[in-house]
Amino acid sequence: MRNTAIAAVGPANMTPINHTTTPVNLADYAKLARERFTPALNALYNGGAGDEHTLRANAQAWQQLTLWPRVLRALRGGHTATTVAGRPMAHPIFLAPVALQRLAHPDGEVASALAAAAQGAGFVLSTQSSVPMEDIARLVLADTQRGPLWFQLYWQPDRAQNLTLVQRAEAAGFDALVLTVDAPVQGVRDQERRHPLPASTGVHAAHGTAAQPHTTDQHAYCAGLPALAPTWDDVAWLQAHTRLPLWLKGVLHPADALQAAQLGIAGLIVSNHGGRTLDTTPPTAVALPHIAAALNGTVPLLVDGGIRRGTDVLKACALGASGVLIGRPVAHALVAGGAQGVAHMIRLLRDELEMAMALAGIRQLSEAGADLLTHTPKQNIN
Ligand code: LAC
Repeated sequence: MRNTAIAAVGPANMTPINHTTTPVNLADYAKLARERFTPALNALYNGGAGDEHTLRANAQAWQQLTLWPRVLRALRGGHTATTVAGRPMAHPIFLAPVALQRLAHPDGEVASALAAAAQGAGFVLSTQSSVPMEDIARLVLADTQRGPLWFQLYWQPDRAQNLTLVQRAEAAGFDALVLTVDAPVQGVRDQERRHPLPASTGVHAAHGTAAQPHTTDQHAYCAGLPALAPTWDDVAWLQAHTRLPLWLKGVLHPADALQAAQLGIAGLIVSNHGGRTLDTTPPTAVALPHIAAALNGTVPLLVDGGIRRGTDVLKACALGASGVLIGRPVAHALVAGGAQGVAHMIRLLRDELEMAMALAGIRQLSEAGADLLTHTPKQNIN
């Protein structure tokens, strides 16, 4: 396990941003990243599953929702502050768990976590982090302006291994656990197969959990990896073995949301893994209102997938989410400018949200409801 990232934070590692190339939106960061990523990193960070229908549909679904602004409303005292599961936040933006961030920038998760904390964003550290969770917690917990700090758990083949990770996260001071439930196997990733990472990148999974083992006499898909994947029984077991709130990430179906609610789950992240697992699922903007309707406010909801504009964040809140996660933009801003880039990217999105709220006649996010949209995107399923 290497631990060289901490000392590496600092201006010397920042890519200078000059005025002609300073990004003004998340798409600019994506463009900068495309210029800087190797083909393998582009495949890893920007690629999706299958024909990438879901990857594209996620972004399109937010774009296709039409805001129905109100005018002449009193906007004095307006703000983006909100609460997520009872916790106050300056704005509703979280950084999603993104694996092996030191591939994008030498400072990796140190940079993105510090940027999130400085901007009051939530930060979800991946099991497949390239920096140990204790190092991240030590840096982030000291920041009084920080948002929530959560640990994303990929279910490990035996319960003892899970317990070790969970107890480390508890001891380090993480605020919650997020169990990813939509990836019992990896998706069909054509781009990654065409442009695999080199055998040795010099970047390691700090928690030693990069791949789940399966024996060669098992079929990898029907008997191997899924046999090790968590079930509802494991979710209940996990709840019983941690004092941290447990969220599930990767729920799309209202029936699953209801089952999670019955277990008293702390919250759900409506997600299709950014279109990286099963292709042709509903986009999250379509799944979210179904889940919100089924749960009727009983379980906090977050959503991710294709959120790139402040208007997208506002629409997510109007459809019943308490907040949003952004994934790929973290990798884009990291490669473009390290911690400085990620902090700037978060600030851009937050400022866009604030402007979208004001222009839509919304003073605070609790006022954002279905009447802010001309329609809810429910027509595609059920
Ligand atoms: C992925 C896994 C690491 O999407 O979550 O690649």
